Amino acid sequence: MARTFFVGGNWKMNGSLESTKELTQTLTSAKLDSNVEVVVSPPALHLLTVQEALKGSSVKVAAQNAYHKASGAFTGEISVNMLKDASIPWVILGHSERRTLFHESDAQVAEKTAAALAADLSVILCIGETLEQREANQTVDVVVRQLDAVAAQVKDWSKIVVAYEPVWAIGTGKVATSEQAQEVHAAIRKWAADKLGKTTAETLRIIYGGSVAGKNCKELAQQPDIDGFLVGGASLKPEFVDIVNANN
Ligand code: G3P
Repeated sequence: MARTFFVGGNWKMNGSLESTKELTQTLTSAKLDSNVEVVVSPPALHLLTVQEALKGSSVKVAAQNAYHKASGAFTGEISVNMLKDASIPWVILGHSERRTLFHESDAQVAEKTAAALAADLSVILCIGETLEQREANQTVDVVVRQLDAVAAQVKDWSKIVVAYEPVWAIGTGKVATSEQAQEVHAAIRKWAADKLGKTTAETLRIIYGGSVAGKNCKELAQQPDIDGFLVGGASLKPEFVDIVNANN
């Protein structure tokens, strides 16, 4: 079954109102492969401005995080319901920077994922192992543990895109080889088949993140289980357009 190629740009905590204007102009004036679903994820403060600037284009926006409670005394947080209210269609959850720097547990990521889906958002669910875990041959165990936590709370995976992002490849310039990435993506799809059923496994998009760039995206994109990318640093550059068009 054909899966629509998906490319996300995670801008992380970068940019200003001025620079995001330039970035969105690059996107709206570029020729983007119409067979690719493109989502960019600006910091929360810039979400609505970017969404407005992208009106009329096929590019959608994603929040970089959200809180699972609908409202209340949670200073500094933005709820999934607020994203829904603002018509923000996507949210990134479980990014390794959230897991590591802000100590989000597997269970918290799962809770947020369930809440986001209940609010009718689509989720880019990030998983991935550290270098230490890879060297200890624990890669598949780690991603399966992270996925199992979500599967314990979520039955319908149709609005989830899984982003496999090995922590050692994020922002390091050290991209996983296409074989390394394919191997883990295949293991994730096998997990999905065993746990969620064959149909879900066939339709589930599994994208790769970690030092994706114009120069390495084409080879990665050819792998049978790589259905797109989640791009950090290169999503802030015009090069992002080449990554969106990796299949051309
Ligand atoms: O979410 C994307 C990300 O963590 C990868 O970042 O800069 O290595 O492309 P980067």
